[in-house]
Amino acid sequence: MPARDLPPGAVRRVGPWTVGNRGGEPFAVSSRCRHQLADLSKGTIDADGCLVCPWHQAKYDVTTGSMVAGPKGLLGYHGPTPGYTQLVRGYASLLKLRVRRAIRRGDDVVVE
Ligand code: FES
Repeated sequence: MPARDLPPGAVRRVGPWTVGNRGGEPFAVSSRCRHQLADLSKGTIDADGCLVCPWHQAKYDVTTGSMVAGPKGLLGYHGPTPGYTQLVRGYASLLKLRVRRAIRRGDDVVVE
């Protein structure tokens, strides 16, 4: 199933994949945050082109699947957690998001 209507900065769910438009270039990554499994298709793309988790704002490089900034909080808490943030980022370096190629076909974006 393709993604339609994917303007710059948009993020959508396509099957098991989170598909987005990063500066005009489509991307596809697996959809579960490595922190507490939030649905990354509900996330946003920041000014650096990173995918930001909707729950605790962990950031991912969508070209590699790496977590580049750890979460800010846990469970229902949203705020600074410096040691915990680094711990999560550390284990996330071993559990990167899966990355797939996403391409445009007309008005659609499909995951290969
Ligand atoms: S679930 Fe994604 S940062 Fe917490």
